[in-house]
Amino acid sequence: MSDKTRSDSSTINPMTQAFLKDVLTGFSKTPKSLPPKWFYDDIGAKLFEDICELPEYYLTRTERKILESAAAEIVAALGEDTVLVEFGSGSMSKVRIILDQFTTPKEFVAVDISVEQLAEAAKEIESAYPGLRVFSIAADFTQPFDLPADLDASLRRCVFFPGSTIGNFNPQDAKALLAHMRTAAGPKGRLLIGFDLKKDAAVLEAAYDDAAGVTAAFNKNVLARINRELGGDVNLDAFEHVAFYNDADGRIEMHLKSVGTQSCSIDGHTFHFTDGESIHTENSYKYAIREFEQLAATAGFGLAETWTDSDGKFALLLFDVTNTG
Ligand code: AVI
Repeated sequence: MSDKTRSDSSTINPMTQAFLKDVLTGFSKTPKSLPPKWFYDDIGAKLFEDICELPEYYLTRTERKILESAAAEIVAALGEDTVLVEFGSGSMSKVRIILDQFTTPKEFVAVDISVEQLAEAAKEIESAYPGLRVFSIAADFTQPFDLPADLDASLRRCVFFPGSTIGNFNPQDAKALLAHMRTAAGPKGRLLIGFDLKKDAAVLEAAYDDAAGVTAAFNKNVLARINRELGGDVNLDAFEHVAFYNDADGRIEMHLKSVGTQSCSIDGHTFHFTDGESIHTENSYKYAIREFEQLAATAGFGLAETWTDSDGKFALLLFDVTNTG
């Protein structure tokens, strides 16, 4: 929003209202925090794409390599009579690696919050796989949603959740999301999920604090959004990107740290920062395979197959539903 004189916040769109609410709530907390979902406007999504290409950020390319080398085994384990249900389908580029291995891919359900990207990517995938029935669901996958009523009931459902996005949920929310995936998978369903493995802190910290400063720009973009969309006056130069591995909690933490004392004003509210005070903007949890297996078991999933890269950086796990709850 560019209108800095706006006084009635009920006239702004629901997304902007939700952003404003989260910012006012997060900046009123001690310590201050912001939910990571607000990183991803068009600029943030582009910056995340750039992160995925960085030499330090091994996650995306490592998972892709695992998928490429394991795709035939994955499809052998799943069987031809499978419908893949991707949570947060984005560009749908990873699912193609698996679809390519089916003799005749039958059905694919894409779930994503971005209506435009969903429509565009679904169209591309439909033309790339003639005969594949593609269903698009525009939804926030953290909330319950209905699967299409006309899915072929004879197919086994496999929820696909690549990208280590599960790492951005705290363990309690991750359990809730996994339980929701188990419901979507159905009684004979599966889950194919990718996540980042625990490793040397220096390797992890470099992945979240790259030399080119792309992750710093990605982190600061949330402040830029406050100025662009909420008419805030946050001084971006007075915040520093900080990323470190919190060993006790098994997570990378990203923060924006105030350089000096300062204040900012957002929608008529003033917030003060002491020197060195930080806004906690993201957690990225890392798991050992055994830990993740235990987490998934709480949601009724039993481990069926494990694939990792040769350096043991990243894991792709296939689970069966063992308990329908
Ligand atoms: C989207 N998610 C899996 C990324 C991660 O690694 O936690 C987000 C990210 N944050 C900084 N760099 C990448």
